[in-house]
Amino acid sequence: AQTLKSAAASKGKYVGTITDPAYINGSDRTYNTIALNEFNYVSAENSMKWDAIEPSNGGFSWNNADTVVNWAQQNNMKIRGHTLVWHSQLPSWVANGSWSKSTLTTVIQNHVRTVMTRYKGKIAQWDVVNEIFDESGGARSSVFSRVFGGLDEFVTIAFNAARAADPSAILCINDYNLDYSGGKATGMVNLVKRLKANGVPIDCIGSQAHLMVGQVSSSFSSTLSSLCSAAGKCAITELDIRAKTPISSSGLSQQQTDYTTAVRACVNLSNCLGVTVWGITDSRSWIPQVFSGEGAALPWDGSYNKKPAYSGIIAGF
Ligand code: XIL
Repeated sequence: AQTLKSAAASKGKYVGTITDPAYINGSDRTYNTIALNEFNYVSAENSMKWDAIEPSNGGFSWNNADTVVNWAQQNNMKIRGHTLVWHSQLPSWVANGSWSKSTLTTVIQNHVRTVMTRYKGKIAQWDVVNEIFDESGGARSSVFSRVFGGLDEFVTIAFNAARAADPSAILCINDYNLDYSGGKATGMVNLVKRLKANGVPIDCIGSQAHLMVGQVSSSFSSTLSSLCSAAGKCAITELDIRAKTPISSSGLSQQQTDYTTAVRACVNLSNCLGVTVWGITDSRSWIPQVFSGEGAALPWDGSYNKKPAYSGIIAGF
């Protein structure tokens, strides 16, 4: 039977999902079975974030990330490493440290080198930096942008450390609200072009694509194309399409259309690597915790029935 991964492969793309040790080892076997049957790429939902992997300075906690990497390798799934440098899910020893440029440089280099070296050759793509822009395309306020006085310096430090640690990994810069033309997408394109011109090893831009049913921009595909051109490669890294809950039947069919639109935008670009969907079932999606009154964003409903969105993804490929 056709699966998401057979549909993606027919267009030379991958289709990914997320997992967590709770799903790999836990009582929810359906999650694990669908992940294995339908997808051929995986991101750790939380296990590779800085607070999970280096909770104290130089104190690394590998169990959960190892579980995801071993599971993926045993099942022939490729991995997107998510994520090395991010203002969120950042342990307080980093966020609240009193750093100079020099000491924070060492902290970033040590984190990137240690994590990437452990999984060298096992992780196909890394989100080296995540969500560094504000909505107008300037620097988001974070310990990193404050200490370095902007983005260029710490992004350069992180990507150089990443390339040195695993020269075979595809190195990405990842963000959300790159789904339409505007200040944020322009800021991303300009930063990536500028740094690449200076020899910074950025290979790819990741567009998270946390979308809303019925509101996919008419510039979604042209914007993805401009991201792909600026970096040389791009990927859709966290696709979900949320609605007010409960979602109506017309909402479900609009969502199907919207999934097709998003997936097809990647398929139409030879240098778009693939599409990762940020979850499997609506019952385990991050959306209801963060967007009050919204959810129903994924291709399987809370009881693991395929929604029209599932066919929408197949149709996009
Ligand atoms: C989310 C996870 O899905 C949640 O489990 C967690 O509580 C918060 O983070 N952008 C990202 C992802 O880059 O790492 C986020 O994942 C969703 C938004």
